Amino acid sequence: MAATKTQAKAGNSAKLTRPVANGKHAKVSSGAISVPYQKMFIGGRFVDSVSGKTFETLNPATGNVICQVAEGDKADIDLAVKAARKAFESGPWSKMHGPDRARLLNKLADAIEANREELAKLESLDNGKPYSDSFNIDLPLTVKCFRYFAGWADKVMGKTIPIEGDFLCYTRHEPIGVVGQIIPWNFPILMLAWKWGPALACGNTVVLKPAEQTPITALRIAKLAHEVGFPAGVINVVPGYGPTAGAALSSHMDVDKIGFTGETTTGKLVMTAAAQSNLKRVSLELGGKSPNIVFADADIDAAIEGAYFGLFFNQGQCCVAGSRLYVEESIYDEFVKKMTAKAKSRKVGDPFDAAFEQGPQVSQEQMDKVLGYIDSGKKEGAKMLTGGGRVGSNGYFVEPTIFVDVKEEMKIAREEIFGPVMSIMKFKHMDEIIERANKTMFGLAAAVWTKDVKKALRMSNALKAGTVWVNCYDVFDAAAPFGGFKMSGIGREMGEYALTQYTEVKTVIVAM
Ligand code: NAI
Ligand code: MG
Repeated sequence: MAATKTQAKAGNSAKLTRPVANGKHAKVSSGAISVPYQKMFIGGRFVDSVSGKTFETLNPATGNVICQVAEGDKADIDLAVKAARKAFESGPWSKMHGPDRARLLNKLADAIEANREELAKLESLDNGKPYSDSFNIDLPLTVKCFRYFAGWADKVMGKTIPIEGDFLCYTRHEPIGVVGQIIPWNFPILMLAWKWGPALACGNTVVLKPAEQTPITALRIAKLAHEVGFPAGVINVVPGYGPTAGAALSSHMDVDKIGFTGETTTGKLVMTAAAQSNLKRVSLELGGKSPNIVFADADIDAAIEGAYFGLFFNQGQCCVAGSRLYVEESIYDEFVKKMTAKAKSRKVGDPFDAAFEQGPQVSQEQMDKVLGYIDSGKKEGAKMLTGGGRVGSNGYFVEPTIFVDVKEEMKIAREEIFGPVMSIMKFKHMDEIIERANKTMFGLAAAVWTKDVKKALRMSNALKAGTVWVNCYDVFDAAAPFGGFKMSGIGREMGEYALTQYTEVKTVIVAM
């Protein structure tokens, strides 16, 4: 879930540089941002929760409350599912043709683009990511995602299949129905787009539960969707907590499919709930512990730049973070020296001041978790070369941290840290590194840095991961499928592959 400045502007590029805020946006005052919508969005209207309860959403840069947001629970999920069901079965959505859905998705993309500045501000306020990242990466990728799936809306089709006998056999790729979607806090707007794009293009209706840490932008986008003409009930947003609203959605008997992004252990709960209720379809995009492998024959400066971005981007809160960085022995010392100098120079501070590259972690809980991993690294005998502490006493800022002398069995080498903590390990041979890289329950992404084509291709084949980057990192595109091997998930988002997650195949056989 990342991109480069170049990519965000002009399509694919492997050049990894940190985006720079537009001159006129270099200083934004976060105090001046007002949050327009704080109720849940059900059946085309903003409504209070049935219980009347609300919860606080915090500004992670200060720890202060931004606002109260309606807190959804089972009763609200029920209402949202009813609205979505009605829109799917009998509302205007059920009769809408692909080209009309495409037009709406394009209009939503236009509306998001027109409100890019406001949305980027809200995203940074709620999540803590630098405003320049929200503006230059998250928002453009979101707009592209909606335009890409708008392009598919009138191209979702089956096949005519020759079968034995005098029959006409064809398939229809039909929408699944009411789709529940649960997303995390690390890329709130972009994850919404990854979920809504294919679901709506295929003709489903959706009930989205944003993460409790970052509910604001989904509500703003729901309003935009309503304004551009999505019929009531097609899009519903119910903010709330995981064990309540999230569990109600994944166990709902009238939800036909659940799409989830988040922690692997939560993914198991979601899948269990799906299995124990109505066997709803499940797609999961879960955690990772991605190996990033640098061979001695690589362009070292490019590898350093890519590995630095691939770990520290988004405060290290990326499912694909290259948190197991393996460097070939002969260049190890030089690499570590350069990377450490770079990490030491990383500027951490106010997300709304373009002078800073790194903002706070999303919450106190996440900050504490990251600091806990740093402690465990030290206790288990890894050597910390820089960082290790909190920055300041306001907000949830963590220093960019680098460990060496890390052993595979240490917690920091095995578990998803989701923070600015890099482990740089040494390797000698290709066979050895293939085995070590794959020795994990995860399989989300991997990267290889080498100038040798044979080596690059051999590694790409051998690595058990949903995405392998060669001489680049964090290159994402709406057209490129994304998802995990092993315990990193089930199914693929984005690209044509995403359509299979949001359609049922119907076989029709007609006697001639
Ligand atoms: P989480 O997996 O608990 O939360 C993600 C979403 O799932 C949120 O919307 C949450 O409300 C919902 N959820 C939580 N429990 C649920 C349940 N029982 N049923 C249905 N939905 C539920 O992740 P959390 O606790 O926010 O972060 C903890 C760790 O998870 C992070 O430190 C990181 O390691 C990992 N994570 C991975 C992400 C990824 O993109 N792969 C994204 C966010 C977190
Ligand atoms: Mg928040």
